[in-house]
Amino acid sequence: MTQFKAACVIGYPAQHSRSPLIHGHWLHTYGLQGAYMRETVAAEDLPQFIASLRARGYVGANITVPHKEAVFQLVQKPDEIATALHAVNTIWFEDGVLCGSNSDGLGFLKSLDHQTPGWRDGCNAALVLGAGGAARGIVYALLQAGVQQVHVYNRTIEKAHALHMQFGTAVQAISAEQLPQAYAQVQLIVNTTSIGMDGTSSPPHHFEACAPTTVVNDIVYTPLHTPFLHAAQQHSLRVAYGLDMLLYQATIGFEKWFGVVPEVTDEVRNLILADLGQGK
Ligand code: ATR
Repeated sequence: MTQFKAACVIGYPAQHSRSPLIHGHWLHTYGLQGAYMRETVAAEDLPQFIASLRARGYVGANITVPHKEAVFQLVQKPDEIATALHAVNTIWFEDGVLCGSNSDGLGFLKSLDHQTPGWRDGCNAALVLGAGGAARGIVYALLQAGVQQVHVYNRTIEKAHALHMQFGTAVQAISAEQLPQAYAQVQLIVNTTSIGMDGTSSPPHHFEACAPTTVVNDIVYTPLHTPFLHAAQQHSLRVAYGLDMLLYQATIGFEKWFGVVPEVTDEVRNLILADLGQGK
């Protein structure tokens, strides 16, 4: 019999997280002796909670809003990605040392690899809409993947400038006036803003200017079919949905804690979609 292991998601609140459903499904699928819990932890209790993680019986955790930056300060061994982003969403123990990483960027790349294979070929330039925490991880991942130029458009342009300051000349902040030109120049467009979660709004788009091979991704997954992706499809562009980024980022923690690389199947996709009250 395998050893029982438990992991959790730590947030404030942690109630909305889909992670227990995803990891619970994989634990069951692979017949592992384990559990994945929710832990609602307030900021003032966080240092003590992280310090006692092992004593509480956990082999690791996911970290969600608003604790990603705070827990980065508490891990003993952040990896390269976590250090670049100053934020962690996955923690685990190695020889008793608390390690931390940020799996969003890798999850994002794997999601595109799966949904829009070949997207990396000739992808020199990308347009990222939004400049929040998710955008930071995605810009980092795109640069790591070899994309040479990333244009960032954000309602608050100062935050796009901050990404340029962090990552250098490969990342440029652009204004609304420069958007049509950017849509025409890039091979990949990613919406990282929360616009679209209401099912009716969309970030500004100029899909008519795009080359026909342009790939369009929205990280919003509720609804799965956002107005942004719908508009891209109307122009016959290749689209990638947001749900797979959530699922692929989860595979990284699952492997660290439970020692199995789980497969992202239609079964787990449909489980989450059903929980969100959406068919595929
Ligand atoms: P996350 O970690 O998911 O990226 P975040 O850090 O709060 O969340 O960032 C949210 C992003 O969505 C930001 O780029 C935000 O733009 P601002 O920096 O101008 O706030 C963008 N965003 C959210 N709602 C928006 C709206 N109604 N119009 C334009 N941008 C919006």
